Amino acid sequence: MADAPTVGLLGGGVIGGGWAARFLLGGADVRLYDPDPQAERKLTEILTNARAAWSSLYDAPLPPEGSWTIVGTVAEAVAEVDFVQESAPERLELKQSLLAEADAAAAADVVIGSSTSGLLPTRLAARMTHPERLVVGHPFNPVYLLPLVEVCPGERTADWAVERAKTVYASFGMRPLHVRKEIDGFVADRLLEAIWREALWLVNDGVATVEEVDDAIRFGAGLRWSFMGTFQTYRIAGGEGGMRHFMAQFGPALQWPWTKLMDVPEMTDDLLDRIAQQSDDQVGDIGVRDLERLRDTCLVAVMQGLRSVPYAAGEVVSDYEQQLRAAR
Ligand SMILES: NC(=O)c1ccc[n+]([C@@H]2O[C@H](COP(=O)([O-])OP(=O)(O)OC[C@H]3O[C@@H](n4cnc5c(N)ncnc54)[C@H](O)[C@@H]3O)[C@@H](O)[C@H]2O)c1
Repeated sequence: MADAPTVGLLGGGVIGGGWAARFLLGGADVRLYDPDPQAERKLTEILTNARAAWSSLYDAPLPPEGSWTIVGTVAEAVAEVDFVQESAPERLELKQSLLAEADAAAAADVVIGSSTSGLLPTRLAARMTHPERLVVGHPFNPVYLLPLVEVCPGERTADWAVERAKTVYASFGMRPLHVRKEIDGFVADRLLEAIWREALWLVNDGVATVEEVDDAIRFGAGLRWSFMGTFQTYRIAGGEGGMRHFMAQFGPALQWPWTKLMDVPEMTDDLLDRIAQQSDDQVGDIGVRDLERLRDTCLVAVMQGLRSVPYAAGEVVSDYEQQLRAAR
């Protein structure tokens, strides 16, 4: 990319490291602030996996990788950059003070995105002098491969900030989804939490092990979700009668006790031990980086398959490849 921006990152863990990889591989320079003394090692490891994934995913010339620096203060990370992405721990107080500090140091027209999974942008911006430039930019792990980023403005966010954030994310191969209504958990985490809650109940009640829950997803609905989501899938399930027929047939089932509704199981030590033990049994002694590589290899395979259609995430990959070719 000829005119890739310099990006300031606050937090370089699972998500911040993933953002760093996406921006760097997309040609941007990155300045990262993270108080963790292990930040450099972690980012190096994430980058190694991300490079391998990108080089097998994209069939287009990748831009020269950007350079990265780990800096010692928030101000150093955000001064003189074109875009800021905050990925610190999910604690409101911590994020509010970090965002206020970044706000004081970044040029007033620089947009600040927060990776929060579900905190409201209006609350996140409470201590900022320029709340108009704060948007939620909620990504999905691994950030360097999954295209979705939910962009949600707060009450005082300006339209220009939303548009600029969407443009920046899209220019790095992502698919922004504008969440118009500010709401806890946004769209995707509300859906994911519903499944997570039911999964915990199934393990808690001894109905299924963690592996059986995963199998129930990955050999069935999970495959469909990856390209059609839920509404399109159910429309097809309604056959020639479409959505109305589907609703007539399965609508009444919503009144039956198929789910635990909003109830959540209490996270007792016993339940936690059971989940952790079953998860260890499921995965064996494969380390996290190896698991990440397996996940990335599968994601690349799915996205390449979808690119050959091209459809859904495959279309995003194809569009980004065209963008990369045009930038040569
Ligand atoms: N893990 C996910 O799947 C996921 C997905 C989407 C969004 N998110 C969101 O991304 C954010 C980060 O989550 P994560 O999973 O990367 O957590 P993480 O624990 O892996 O990383 C958090 C990082 O922030 C650093 N940090 C702590 N205090 C800081 C400070 N004051 N300033 C800057 N950095 C600081 C930590 O050292 C750590 O490296 C959270 O808001 C989370 O809700 C997480």
